[in-house]
Amino acid sequence: MVIRDLFVAGTETTSTTIRWILVYLLSNPDVQEKCFQEIKEHIGQSRRPTMKDKTNLPYVEATIMEALRLSDIVPTALPHAVPHDVQFRGYTFPKGVQVIVMLDSVLQDPDVWGDPESFRPDRFLDDSGKIIKKEEFIPFSLGRRVCLGESMARMELFLFLTTMIQRFKFVPVDGQMPSLDGLIGITHYPRPFVMKAIQRI
Ligand code: HEM
Repeated sequence: MVIRDLFVAGTETTSTTIRWILVYLLSNPDVQEKCFQEIKEHIGQSRRPTMKDKTNLPYVEATIMEALRLSDIVPTALPHAVPHDVQFRGYTFPKGVQVIVMLDSVLQDPDVWGDPESFRPDRFLDDSGKIIKKEEFIPFSLGRRVCLGESMARMELFLFLTTMIQRFKFVPVDGQMPSLDGLIGITHYPRPFVMKAIQRI
């Protein structure tokens, strides 16, 4: 059952995030080019990226973080229940009541992000190009029931994306841009789209 849980929770989430990243790269060719240049400078094109490269690729990391924030693939996290009566901001949550947290109220909060609807990886970089850790960046939720696979997902996203961008340029077909409005199912996922992957090497 544990292995089944990891497959169920870890497959659709990671692949959906990769599809969103492709949507954002098609719509923001400048971001795709900056990621490619960073990969070319620090890894080159003759060997595969490894996790050791991560510290040298802050722009790629910021792009992944911005995609996780904007795509907001699990907007309501998972339902939980309070184990005992809880007082919160004048409300009483009786023992056993179901609580659904809205991650999107944080990930898309204009007071936190300014322009939450824009895809702007730079918001996660400081003036010297280093990653800024923001406590409101919670695509994996937080607390005791935070996503169990966060570090694995972030590793997978980094290795997949750097390898894909290192080897291919992703472009729209006949100027058809993918929709930025997703659909809601088990996750918030992009509408079907077509693209061309042009080999770089
Ligand atoms: C981009 C990829 C992923 C995202 C955005 C994501 C997000 C989330 C979120 C928001 C939750 C709900 C946390 C809560 O209820 O407060 C969750 C739970 C969970 N995730 Fe992920 N996840 C991802 C990938 C993975 C992977 C790769 C695995 C495992 C290999 C995984 C395993 C789990 C498990 C087991 C739970 C339930 C944890 C619990 O209830 O204690 N996830 N995930």
